[in-house]
This record gives sequence, structure tokens and C-alpha cells, in this order.
Amino acid sequence: MSWRSDREGWGLGIRLLHWSIAALVLFQWLLGQYMTSLGPEALAEKFVLYQRHKSLGFLLFALTLLRLLWRLTEPARPAHPESMPLWQRRAAATSHALLYLLLLAMPVTGFLAAAASPLGLPTVVFGLVPIPHPIGPDARLEAILLEAHAIQGLVLALLLAVHVGAALKHHLIDRDRVLVRMIVGR
Ligand code: HEM
Repeated sequence: MSWRSDREGWGLGIRLLHWSIAALVLFQWLLGQYMTSLGPEALAEKFVLYQRHKSLGFLLFALTLLRLLWRLTEPARPAHPESMPLWQRRAAATSHALLYLLLLAMPVTGFLAAAASPLGLPTVVFGLVPIPHPIGPDARLEAILLEAHAIQGLVLALLLAVHVGAALKHHLIDRDRVLVRMIVGR
């Protein structure tokens, strides 16, 4: 079992990062839906959940940076199956790049929206690490940033549906090792 990836399969590092980020994204999405559905009668719970959502956003941002750094410094990555057509290779590269981009962009719009909120609540990651706000309260900017955050969430959900569909197609129809090697390595 190797930490680094090679031509034969993904290393333990990338696999741990892939599946922990996947679980966190799913949890973060459910939390986002739930906390925004709460009304003013549940204000205390809403406050706690928004803080948790912000903290998880910072964690996702850090894990994605670490994953990109790890990935870019690996000696090699597993090859695509030989039978995979060129358009599918290009679609995979484009959708993976977009996934990385959204994983980094969503915490940024979320954090900036929180910073622009007229409520002026401080950001303290997991109640431990205070993060200074780069911008001050501005209701109009907050609305724009929240809209951008919601659109990014929608695009991410669509991309993930394609991503999971493609992984299942590899496994069930093409019967290659693309999904298996992301789980067990090689
Ligand atoms: C939910 C959040 C998820 C995110 C953000 C995500 C993101 C990514 C990214 C960015 C890559 C590209 C790796 C690289 O080349 O650098 C990747 C690869 C992969 N993902 Fe996901 N993924 C998620 C969930 C899933 C799920 C649920 C499955 C399985 C059903 C899956 C199956 C795969 C497979 C098989 C690969 C390897 C593709 C290859 O070897 O070329 N992913 N994922």
C-alpha cells in the first residue's frame, strides 16, 4: 500500500482526500439546505448551524488545496483505460478541473457573503481560529454573493450527478477498474 499514486493506481493520500471531501461536500450540502429552511422561531439553532457551515467551508477549502498540492506533486497518475474515447478523456479532465474550481470558489463566496452581512457576526473557525473579514457589512453585496453561492451549489450538484453517473458507467457498463481503483488503489 503506497501513499503516492503511480501509473497503476491512486495512492492512499489521494483516495483518503477524495472520499473525505466527498463525504464533507454531501454533509455540507444537506446542512446548507436544512439551515436555510429554518424560520425565525429557531434562531438559536440557525445561528449555531450557520457557524458550523462556515467552519466546514474553511475545512473543505483547506482539504481541496492540500489535495491539489498533493496531486500536482505526485510522480504519476493512473492511465485512462485504453478503450476510453478522446471526448470522454476531455470531458473527464474538464469536469474534474471544474469540480476543483467550485470546491475552492464556494467557500470564498460563502465567507465573503458572511463578511458582508449587516449582522456583522465574526468568523471563528470551529470556535478556535478567528478569521478577519476582508470586507465590511454591505447588504447589496451580501445578496449578490449569496446568489453566486447558490448558483455555484447548483452547478456543483449537476456536475456531481454527471461525475457519479460516469463512475457507475465505468463500473457497470464498461466494466473497467476506474471506480475500483479510486476505492482500493490498484
Ligand atoms: C461528492 C463529492 C465528490 C467530489 C467533489 C469528487 C471530485 C473528484 C475529482 C476532482 C476527481 C479527479 C481526480 C483527479 O484526477 O485529480 C475525482 C475522481 C474520481 N471520482 Fe470523485 N468526487 C466526488 C464523489 C465521487 C463519488 C460519489 C464517486 C463514485 C460513485 C466518485 C468516483 C470517482 C472516481 C472513480 C474517480 C477517478 C477517475 C479516474 O481514475 O480517472 N467520486 N473525483
